[in-house]
Amino acid sequence: MVYILTMLSATMFNRSIEEAHSYAVLALKQGGNAIDATMGNGNDTLFLAQLAEHVYAFDIQADALQKTQALLDKHHINNVDLILDSHVHMIKYIKKPIQLIVFNLGYLPNSDTTIKTQADTTSAAIKEALKILDSGGYLVLTLYIGHDEGVIEAEAVEMILKTLHPKQFTVKKTKILNRNKAPFNIIVYKHTTKE
Ligand SMILES: C[S@@+](CC[C@H](N)C(=O)[O-])C[C@H]1O[C@@H](n2cnc3c(N)ncnc32)[C@H](O)[C@@H]1O
Repeated sequence: MVYILTMLSATMFNRSIEEAHSYAVLALKQGGNAIDATMGNGNDTLFLAQLAEHVYAFDIQADALQKTQALLDKHHINNVDLILDSHVHMIKYIKKPIQLIVFNLGYLPNSDTTIKTQADTTSAAIKEALKILDSGGYLVLTLYIGHDEGVIEAEAVEMILKTLHPKQFTVKKTKILNRNKAPFNIIVYKHTTKE
């Protein structure tokens, strides 16, 4: 764990993925289960599987499942369910309490860039995710505003998250101010009943 934190500290300040991963470390510091809502090449799934007891990972591309399975096999990881379905339907598959849900939105670089997350399905999936998430858990989203649909998606996501009741959730946006169109993160913390 100390190794992971040391590794993250060098890059998390200017790379949104590393910052998102630092919140995964925080959410899973006492173990627990996680959802990777956008599996892609499996890099986030692998990272989560090394921290969590169990991971559910979703993608709509069969290719993503093949690539992720190969990556997990290479690292001898077997605590992951790879699910070929939209994250909109995540509630159907989840059998364990969930402490962390991660959405790394957009499209896979060096792949079919027409297959990307969309404002309407991402919005629906976030609403499901907020219901599934355990108290004391985190929802971490990485958003990309370098393409037009990403801008529309980010606006839709913010519209939902900024209306969450502050007694139930704390929502934080971390954004680089001096790099136009840089990706950014939104982190949602679901309060426990004592908070
Ligand atoms: C930016 S990539 C994810 C990167 C990935 N987490 C990784 O570590 O390589 C976004 C992924 O979301 C997937 N996706 C798009 N719409 C989806 C949906 N409705 N449900 C689940 N996955 C979806 C795409 O197929 C793509 O693989």
